[in-house]
Amino acid sequence: MAGVSTASFRGALRAPIAGGRPSRLAVRAASGSGEWQKVCTRKELSEGGGRVRAKVGGEKVFVQEFEGQLYCLSNVCTHLSLPLVGRTPILQGQIVEGCMECPLHKTRFDLKTGEVKGEWAPTFPEIPFVGKGDPKPLPTFSVRENEDGTIEALI
Ligand code: FES
Repeated sequence: MAGVSTASFRGALRAPIAGGRPSRLAVRAASGSGEWQKVCTRKELSEGGGRVRAKVGGEKVFVQEFEGQLYCLSNVCTHLSLPLVGRTPILQGQIVEGCMECPLHKTRFDLKTGEVKGEWAPTFPEIPFVGKGDPKPLPTFSVRENEDGTIEALI
């Protein structure tokens, strides 16, 4: 997109404009370095309770609104490649202390950085010779909201 710098959106805060609608909202940067692609609309995000899962540019992602900020992260847990935001209520990760907590083994990924916070797969059973593997951060993507309510991620 011409004239748009990824760096200029990093960490930016919601900037209200006349009428109270945000002009653009962008959040932390990320591993994504492709093109801005539509993930959802503001309406869809609201209908989802501040959360939307989507497949964009071949990536499974979710957008989460938390404390007035938007975050976009991979929807594939780096432990066993299961979704953090699934189709059913029991497969919904919870937001805990600014992290997305995997619904399966409770690994917490920082919404801003994707880094693992706390113990890796704390509820995963101790299986001899298998172990839990090494902690791996969750890919994150820059995200922004346009004036028309479209929410895009740099994927
Ligand atoms: S699948 Fe997410 S922590 Fe195990």
